[in-house]
Amino acid sequence: AVNRVRARQILDSRGNPTVEADVELSDGSVGRAAVPSGASTGANEAVELRDGDPARFHGKGVTTAVAAVNGEIADAVIGLDAEDQALIDATMIDLDGSKDKGRLGANAILAVSLATAKAAASAHRQPLYRYVGGVGARLLPVPMMNIINGGAHADNPLDFQEFMIAPVGARTFAEAVRVGSEVFHTLKASLAAAGHHTNVGDEGGFAPAFTTADEALGFVLRAIEESGYEPGTDITICLDPASSEFYRGGVYDYVGEGRQRSVEEHIDHLVDLAARYPISSIEDPMAEDDIAGWQRLTALAGERVQLVGDDVFCTDVDRLRDGIEGGYANAILVKVNQIGTLTETLATVDAAHKAGYRVVMSHRSGETEDTTIADLAVGVGCGQIKTGSLSRSDRTAKYNQLIRIEEELGDRAVYAGRGTR
Ligand code: PGA
Ligand code: ZN
Repeated sequence: AVNRVRARQILDSRGNPTVEADVELSDGSVGRAAVPSGASTGANEAVELRDGDPARFHGKGVTTAVAAVNGEIADAVIGLDAEDQALIDATMIDLDGSKDKGRLGANAILAVSLATAKAAASAHRQPLYRYVGGVGARLLPVPMMNIINGGAHADNPLDFQEFMIAPVGARTFAEAVRVGSEVFHTLKASLAAAGHHTNVGDEGGFAPAFTTADEALGFVLRAIEESGYEPGTDITICLDPASSEFYRGGVYDYVGEGRQRSVEEHIDHLVDLAARYPISSIEDPMAEDDIAGWQRLTALAGERVQLVGDDVFCTDVDRLRDGIEGGYANAILVKVNQIGTLTETLATVDAAHKAGYRVVMSHRSGETEDTTIADLAVGVGCGQIKTGSLSRSDRTAKYNQLIRIEEELGDRAVYAGRGTR
């Protein structure tokens, strides 16, 4: 049973406060989890509670959420069976009482939810991925590595947020990391040779002063080739334009490019890019409010390209159902802090898989050294993870954890590669 719950305010990768919680069970097992934070958030995400005191951390303190964990939440969950994750999470949801977890804070609730699962796994002497996924958990995900950052994650004029590479042709996860690292460093050298700076953005990808997607894609494609890999076979390209960020008044406003595109023109642009580059996946190709656009693009390109709903679904099973019934997207991005508990996260993954939607486990642009999502990706066997570039420890921590998991599984490990699910 849960015996002790303790939270504290720590820093995330952007230097902003976030919640970390420790859950201790009566047998002495301990679990610890820290909560990530987004910058290009969906409108319908669970509420991240911030103190709003301008004198402290520019209003971003989380001492209220920490106090909720140490007070109300601790009182409610102490004594409960830590293995009964559904009960722990339902108890916190009921205690919160709001629709969006805004009273106690999704950051407070998630920290306890994940820390409880880790404590329970530890009590069973099981790694988290096996505790979550059972003996069948052995699928290592293809990483979508974000090597060029734009949008809300960098201060360059690049309208699209993420340009990623997926080493689908690797035989193992460790090899995928090698391939990614090689392309990352080749890209760095070619950016420098072309006179671009090579500073990195929030997710550890380069943030040169590009404006168009073509510029970024040209460099990515050449870096793949110069590293000795076959684009489309060894490595595919994935995009996250994060289109909600530049959709205004019914048009897509490409501020960096200095032009607007109508919904039709925006769709044509994406379809054209997917035809000219080996693009296998586009996340948030359309804005969260542009459901008609989502439906048109899905009908047009959904057979060929993975279309991942991030902002439009917010890891919410009901929003996902709207997509399944409404015929838009064919995959979902899963971010634990968008919904706020492990139980709800697993329910969303399950619903997606049952409907034939692919699942991509994901970090946030604000991360910590916590590696829970690496274990969750293997635990649910989703076959894909998005956790940033090949630099910054907040990103590489997840890759390193997956390397350890692959080693531990030994011969049983299967790298998802081209097969995904
Ligand atoms: P965020 O962005 O974590 O800043 O919200 C990540 C994404 O859009 O996938
Ligand atoms: Zn996204």
